[in-house]
Amino acid sequence: MENFVIYNPVKLHFGKDVVEKLGKNAARLGKKALLVYGKGSVKKNGAYQHTLSSLQKAGIEVVEYDGIKSNPVIEDVDKASAIGREQKVDMIVAVGGGSVIDSAKLMGITIPVTHSGWEFVDGDVKPKEALPLVCVLTLAATGTEMNSFAVVQSDAKRKKSGYGHPLIFPKHSFLDPTYTLSVPGNYTSYGITDLVAHSLEAWFGEGETSLTDRFIVSIIREAMKYGPKLMEDPDNYDLRARIMYAATMALNGLTVQGKKFQDWGVHAVGHCMSVKWDIPHGASLSIAYPAWLKLQRERIPERIQELGHALFSADSIDDTIYKMEYFFKLIKSPVTLAELDIKPGKEEKEDLFQIMKMNKVDGLAHKITEEDYKFLIEKMSG
Ligand code: NZQ
Ligand code: ZN
Repeated sequence: MENFVIYNPVKLHFGKDVVEKLGKNAARLGKKALLVYGKGSVKKNGAYQHTLSSLQKAGIEVVEYDGIKSNPVIEDVDKASAIGREQKVDMIVAVGGGSVIDSAKLMGITIPVTHSGWEFVDGDVKPKEALPLVCVLTLAATGTEMNSFAVVQSDAKRKKSGYGHPLIFPKHSFLDPTYTLSVPGNYTSYGITDLVAHSLEAWFGEGETSLTDRFIVSIIREAMKYGPKLMEDPDNYDLRARIMYAATMALNGLTVQGKKFQDWGVHAVGHCMSVKWDIPHGASLSIAYPAWLKLQRERIPERIQELGHALFSADSIDDTIYKMEYFFKLIKSPVTLAELDIKPGKEEKEDLFQIMKMNKVDGLAHKITEEDYKFLIEKMSG
């Protein structure tokens, strides 16, 4: 087992009506908030109104920035940061899914300085301070609500990169599964895929810790048991709550305890598909994972087989890959680009290859070569 440190300072508030307590908690952090959200879903499910009213009751002044797109772009981070700086906000409140929260995390370190948020992501600049961040999560998927990562895209640079720093942990995250009742079927499925994919990135990471492996398997089994039920019964609060809890636990540090690192190769491949076609994050992962497993089948047969045995009592590697693919199909997450009506020809495949090269796609534990890129692109195309 590797040496490890557990540090997670996020205060998580989980359950019905928890947002009522948001204002009181936020008032301890600041007086003027930049309220960040996406393209409008939060106004339809009540999350925006409840958050605003809780902030107002606590006497907190609010400046808004809306329109954050799914697969968020650095331009929004910079624009919102300029507003936040000019308005002298002293905290950020993010209401939405991973795209909104990740953008808000980067705003938190960009507002106190004058350069672009991309300079942090690129590693040119290190943050010295951050505005406190309070999150209201409305989509169960990424785990961003309880971790110190943000993922953002630069369309100009054709890059999508992850960034991690302890300063960007949220101070509080409010998770009321009621808000996720309005998530449409496709994003519900992509969220389940994402949480399974995070667990798989941990499973295929470097170093083995039996207890941590059991955590990982439990999270995937939870998703595999309740995910398909939720797809059949999307108005069920209890199922929404189970999936929301699982998604948070899948990427908050729990699954990497005693390991050196997670692999992240499949995420790197998925991010390139987001750059090229703006594919939803979870969908890119259900397309990339089966291809990656096929790539790795002869390189890490025992680890794949062990996973298949733990999850499905699978008796072979092929059976494991088949059952993994079957699960994604069961929850209606695509396993090929063709299912999203993307049928790349020679030029499109070459362009994706170039994006993968530019983004230096690789796994931390399992190397992916440029030859492998071609294999993956063919398999993913369907
Ligand atoms: O923009 P609005 O109108 O809010 O609509 C959003 C968006 O269209 C909608 N939505 C969110 N909550 C809803 C809802 N619709 C109805 N009812 C609700 N309650 O869902 C769409 C997708 O939202 P988005 O935030 O993009 O999805 P997700 O939470 O999956 O976040 C994806 C982003 O997170 C990154 C991904 O790469 C991607 O950019 N990730 C972040 C990670 C992290 N910070 O730890 C790790 C992940 O691996 C991932 O990379
Ligand atoms: Zn993910």
